[in-house]
Amino acid sequence: MFKTALMATVVTMTLTTTANAADGKEIVEKACTGCHAVGVANAPKIGDKAAWDSRKTKGIDILLASVKNGLNAMPPGGMCNDCSDDDYKAAIAYMSK
Ligand code: HEC
Repeated sequence: MFKTALMATVVTMTLTTTANAADGKEIVEKACTGCHAVGVANAPKIGDKAAWDSRKTKGIDILLASVKNGLNAMPPGGMCNDCSDDDYKAAIAYMSK
């Protein structure tokens, strides 16, 4: 008698594991809701998983660069003048979950 064990390792990819440094919700409400709440100029909406999933495939570094440099209708920095990289990552994680 023999058993075949098929082990499937599911690697779950998340943008960030924890965001202790920054409160994503707070940053989003302060700087990003203006456009991302209603989807101004095609901005992926807060909590719109489908819209964010396609963006997330770019990887967090690219998304971070998009916010910092601006992307089409999104101004550089996403209207947050004092956000650090961690702040942006926390905000992205909050919007895209
Ligand atoms: C003035 C409006 C505006 C504000 C404010 C704004 N965004 Fe955006 N954002 C957009 C638009 C429009 C897009 C879609 C750009 C496109 O793909 O053409 C976008 C796209 C993005 C993307 C996806 C980038 C990519 O590479 O696909 C991220 C991430 C993002 N915003 C994060 C943020 C964060 C974080 C904030 C707040 C700190 C913020 N945005 C504030 C308008 C805005």
